[in-house]
Amino acid sequence: MKVGNIVFEKGLFLAPMAGVSDVGFRSVCSDFGAEGCFSEMLSCRAMLHNPSKTVLMTIVEPNEKIKIGQIFGHEPEIMAKAVRNPLLDKYDIIDINMGCPAPKVVKNGEGCALMSNVCLAEKIIKACVENTKRPVSVKFRLGKDKDISLEFGKMCQEAGASFVTLHARTLEQGYSGKANYDAIAKLSQSLEIPVIGNGDVVDKQSYNRMLTTGASAVMIGRGAQGKPWIFQEVLGQTFDGDKYKVIEKHLTILRKYYNEDWLKLYMRKHFLWYTSDLKFAAEARLKLATTQNLDESMEILKQLLK
Ligand SMILES: Cc1cc2nc3c(=O)[nH]c(=O)nc-3n(C[C@H](O)[C@H](O)[C@H](O)COP(=O)(O)O)c2cc1C
Repeated sequence: MKVGNIVFEKGLFLAPMAGVSDVGFRSVCSDFGAEGCFSEMLSCRAMLHNPSKTVLMTIVEPNEKIKIGQIFGHEPEIMAKAVRNPLLDKYDIIDINMGCPAPKVVKNGEGCALMSNVCLAEKIIKACVENTKRPVSVKFRLGKDKDISLEFGKMCQEAGASFVTLHARTLEQGYSGKANYDAIAKLSQSLEIPVIGNGDVVDKQSYNRMLTTGASAVMIGRGAQGKPWIFQEVLGQTFDGDKYKVIEKHLTILRKYYNEDWLKLYMRKHFLWYTSDLKFAAEARLKLATTQNLDESMEILKQLLK
């Protein structure tokens, strides 16, 4: 897949996941072949003041290959301002979130709510494209309660988007049911710009199924949780390396930027995902879910994974 002069050789993307795809996680996913890494979604309104929380979310590691900053909002002028914000200078591509189903986002007319307001969505894309020299992409769903992805994708293309990502579920579906791969196939056939297929890729088999849609590239979200090596596995390389070392790297990067009190709670979910396939580890995993000390957690993980 090619976007301007940016070439994606493998066509593998790590999905934006608020509260999950932190800088440490993106870095270990990059080690295993995630070529394009999306940031967690960044509020354009918050970027008017650059609060420390947003600044932290824009930190990137040198080994992240193609860096994509994802923004969300509903006001074209404020979004235009955001894409000019020096905080986003490090990103190769700016992505606009038009797929988030979270009620607090949708009720502001942002995220997937924009699929029900196509005129505004179009204004936002045009405002962003006009205010940056970098490629602008759009990530969206099928629609609110029915599939309008084809019309919506065409609008994005006309408005100047360089590529789109389709998470093939409706807003109403949330994360239930199955992603509609036929819709991804139809969109890929109909647009001239590349389409990234997204939804339910969790292993080599589902990755191969996604490739049959003709999508130009594949995005993986939940399938990478606790399993950043999925990016090499879908390409046929099994991972038999040291899982503990992967977790240690993930944590070491985060420790450079975040305080221990916050991290010890934040990392619990990652630790549980990293150990979710271990049998007979219920007691140790319960400790991981409750301990107040990261060094203790790492000791438990060392014992579990040795
Ligand atoms: C915890 C979590 C947070 C997410 N945050 C975002 C986000 O910030 N921006 C976005 O566009 N999508 C977000 N998503 C959606 C994912 O990017 C992706 O579209 C969805 O999980 C489907 O892909 P998957 O089946 O590979 O997980 C999030 C999903 C999850 C599970």
